[in-house]
Amino acid sequence: MKPYVTLNCAMSLDGFIGKQGLRVRFSNEEDKRRVHAIRAKSDGIMVGISTVLTDNPHLTVRHAKGKNPVRIVVDSNARTPLNAKVLDSSAPTIIAVSRRAPIVRRKRLQEAACVIATGEKKVDLKSLMASLSEMGLKCVLLEGGGTLNRSMLELGLVDEVYLTITPILLGDGIRWINGTLSRKINLAYAGSRRLGDQMVLHYKTK
Ligand SMILES: NC(=O)c1ccc[n+]([C@@H]2O[C@H](COP(=O)([O-])OP(=O)(O)OC[C@H]3O[C@@H](n4cnc5c(N)ncnc54)[C@H](OP(=O)(O)O)[C@@H]3O)[C@@H](O)[C@H]2O)c1
Repeated sequence: MKPYVTLNCAMSLDGFIGKQGLRVRFSNEEDKRRVHAIRAKSDGIMVGISTVLTDNPHLTVRHAKGKNPVRIVVDSNARTPLNAKVLDSSAPTIIAVSRRAPIVRRKRLQEAACVIATGEKKVDLKSLMASLSEMGLKCVLLEGGGTLNRSMLELGLVDEVYLTITPILLGDGIRWINGTLSRKINLAYAGSRRLGDQMVLHYKTK
């Protein structure tokens, strides 16, 4: 068993979701409201550790009405800083680490979050999904970054995808799927929507 997973990301017109050393705002106000409405309906929001280290996101519901989902950080080496916003008291947080994560860091994180250890060097995402399902999480919003998106898609753990296309060009940076895919993944068109100057594309995985 696994939760239903919705991947959401916003990218530049040339396909990048971030750029090193540059803080880029992708979503306009309407898109923020759309994403926060999905957050409010989700049981969990999941991100990779690099997103926490780069953006320090709250991962809470602020631009829509509804409760805050459980925050999930995929962090093999327990690198989540103790002062990260995802560890504040506004919602419960799960830090998924690997079994090789330093014990001292794991123990410190346990004071602020629920720590799940799975996988040897990297977090075992299939096993993490099974644990989340056992904990009662039925739907999870995956909010990147590109490396975690790639692993989740490649393992067949993503059920639907929303891509917001923003009218900016970055030239280079981190792609919404960061790294290569070992297989072709077919998606089925499920709709599109214009939100001001942005386009939101919706696909289901087959
Ligand atoms: N525009 C958007 O919608 C959006 C959304 C989110 C993020 N971003 C941007 O994306 C960038 C970060 O993306 P990123 O690709 O560098 O990193 P990321 O996907 O946020 O995090 C990747 C890290 O997660 C950890 N991880 C642990 N187990 C994993 C597994 N099984 N599979 C994959 N990752 C695993 C790895 O680090 P460890 O081995 O240390 O655990 C890995 O390096 C930032 O620039 C951020 O601003 C943009």
